[in-house]
Amino acid sequence: MGRAKISIIGAGNVGATCAHWAASKELGDIVLLDIPRADAPDQHMPRGKMLDLACCAPIERFDCKLTGTFDYKDIAGSDVVVVTAGIPRKPGMSRDDLIGTNVKIVKSVCENIKEYAPDSIVIVVSNPLDAMVYTAWKATGFPAHRIMGQAGALDVARFRTFIAWEIGCSVEDVSALLLGGHGDDMVPLPRCTSVHGIPVTDLLPEATITACVERAKVGGGEVVKLMGTSAWYAPASGTIQMVEAIVKDKKRIIPTAAYLDGQFGCKGLFVGVPALLGSKGVEKIVEFKLDEGEQKLFNESASHVNDLVETVKKLFPELA
Ligand code: NAI
Ligand code: 2OP
Repeated sequence: MGRAKISIIGAGNVGATCAHWAASKELGDIVLLDIPRADAPDQHMPRGKMLDLACCAPIERFDCKLTGTFDYKDIAGSDVVVVTAGIPRKPGMSRDDLIGTNVKIVKSVCENIKEYAPDSIVIVVSNPLDAMVYTAWKATGFPAHRIMGQAGALDVARFRTFIAWEIGCSVEDVSALLLGGHGDDMVPLPRCTSVHGIPVTDLLPEATITACVERAKVGGGEVVKLMGTSAWYAPASGTIQMVEAIVKDKKRIIPTAAYLDGQFGCKGLFVGVPALLGSKGVEKIVEFKLDEGEQKLFNESASHVNDLVETVKKLFPELA
């Protein structure tokens, strides 16, 4: 049996770090694609990054073929394609401010994925995430189970980190779930958060849990303020958790921006929900009953996602 093939579009901070995590976990052969720089025509940044990464292999002990390229022909036969192309936020910007620029980029990237890797599963990372997943779905025309977005894996990892810091326990022992759109309007579910099975609500005061939720919500913005650009280690780690679930057919349940066809009372939108990820992509939405307050927050979050999708349709009527 051959190795899995993972292509990553956009060789910037998130894309290159995805390649790094995927190689270190030896998940398969990896292609990293970007566009040539007009101001540096002699350089080949994706090839340079993959050459550098390849030379870690003897130390880190991975056998993966690593390719840096400007040419979409190299993504042919990919099992999974990760889309990180686009601009990140700068201080003072919201994710939504990126929509005009990134929808154009993600649309053109996805038209190439459709042509060169028509059987792939696509994981979108570019922001504003929930609108870019919709763009990818329309631009590829792929069935919805082969299109998904990474946000929840990151948001939950941030939340788990902050809870573990409060308790002083291993992050491995914190299990949590969040729903909804990426970041500011995510839906916290303290009742689904546990520390080795013990409800977190029995271990921490409500105010502390709320503070952890709030910090996870603005976790991306906190990093932007500190660094002047957005995060990449944890976003890439969350993305590769999803890639691993798919290429190893692990059937992991990971919060994913997935297409809803009535689940959680939402139809025709990609929104963050627990999804079972395996070799076919999103194999199942793991639906459960929300209480009244949770459902209200989820509906508000879905309504914000819908507003973003309407903006995409206005900018590009052919994506309607
Ligand atoms: P970056 O600026 O470091 O890298 C973006 C790369 O995309 C650049 O190398 C650029 O040349 C490339 N690119 C631009 N147009 C392209 C095209 N048409 N085809 C191929 N490549 C193209 O940005 P960074 O930090 O890697 O962020 C990438 C995106 O991911 C941003 O939109 C950011 O907001 C988003 N992001 C999403 C997260 C999430 O959890 N969903 C978390 C962190 C970032
Ligand atoms: C993050 O949450 C900006 O979406 C990016 O770090």
